[in-house]
Amino acid sequence: MTDCVLIRPSTDDDVPAMLDIYRSHVHRGVDDLLGPEEEPFEVEDLKKRRKNMKKRRLPHLVAEIGGQVVGYAYAVPFRKRPAYRYTVKHSIYIHGGYLHAGIGRLLLPALIEACAAAGYLQMIGYIDATNQPSLRLHEACGFSRVGLLPSVGFKYGHWTDSVMMQRPLGPGDSAPPRPWEGTAPSPAPDSPPLSPAADPA
Ligand SMILES: CC(C)(COP(=O)(O)OP(=O)(O)OC[C@H]1O[C@@H](n2cnc3c(N)ncnc32)[C@H](O)[C@@H]1OP(=O)(O)O)[C@@H](O)C(=O)NCCC(=O)NCCS
Repeated sequence: MTDCVLIRPSTDDDVPAMLDIYRSHVHRGVDDLLGPEEEPFEVEDLKKRRKNMKKRRLPHLVAEIGGQVVGYAYAVPFRKRPAYRYTVKHSIYIHGGYLHAGIGRLLLPALIEACAAAGYLQMIGYIDATNQPSLRLHEACGFSRVGLLPSVGFKYGHWTDSVMMQRPLGPGDSAPPRPWEGTAPSPAPDSPPLSPAADPA
C-alpha cells in the first residue's frame, strides 16, 4: 500500500478531510488534548491555523492515496518565548481505515525532514502513555523517551499520563544555532525543498 502514498504540503482543500480524520480519533479517545465533551476545531479554525503556520514556515503535510487524504502531520512552536525558537512539537493522525499500514512510517519522517529543512533543531512529541502504536512509531523514527508526565490528562473518566519524546534535527545541539531571522530560523543553504510541490493555497 505504501507504494502509492504521496506525501505533500496540505492545502485549504484538504481541511475537511483532515477534520474528519481528527474528529474520528477524538471520538475514539486517542487525542491527547480533547475529551468527548470538548468542541473540536471547525473548518475555518483549521484554515486559519494552516495559514499562520505557512507564514511561519512550519510544515503541515498530508499523506494521500489515489486522491484521498489518509493522514496529516504538522509542527508548531514548542513554546512562544524566543529562547525556544529552534524547537517544535508535532502531531500526526492517520485515517482510521488505514492504520498500521506503514503510512505513519512515511509521514513522520517527511515531517522530520521538513522541520530540519526549515532550520529547526529539536522536535518534541507528547504521547499518551497507553498509545503503543504512536510510541512505536516515534521510536522507529529516532525519538527517545525523555520524560513521563503523570496524570496530566483527564479523559473518559480517568487520569492519563503522557510520555515526552524528543529527537534532534540536523546538527541538533552540536553547534550554536544559526542566526534568528524573525518568524523561523533560516534553513541551511543546502537544505532540500519541501517535496514534491509548493503549497498552492
Ligand atoms: C500513531 C499513528 C500515527 C501510527 O500510524 P500508522 O500509520 O498506523 O503506523 P505505521 O503502520 O506506520 O506503524 C508505525 C509503527 O507502529 C507500530 N504499530 C502501528 N499500529 C500498531 C498497533 N495497533 N499496535 C502495535 N504497534 C503498532 C508498527 O508496527 C510500526 O512499528 P515498527 O516500525 O517498529 O514495526 C496512528 O495509529 C494514529 O493516527 N493514531 C491515532 C492518532 C494518534 O494517536 N496520533 C499520535 C498522537 S501523539
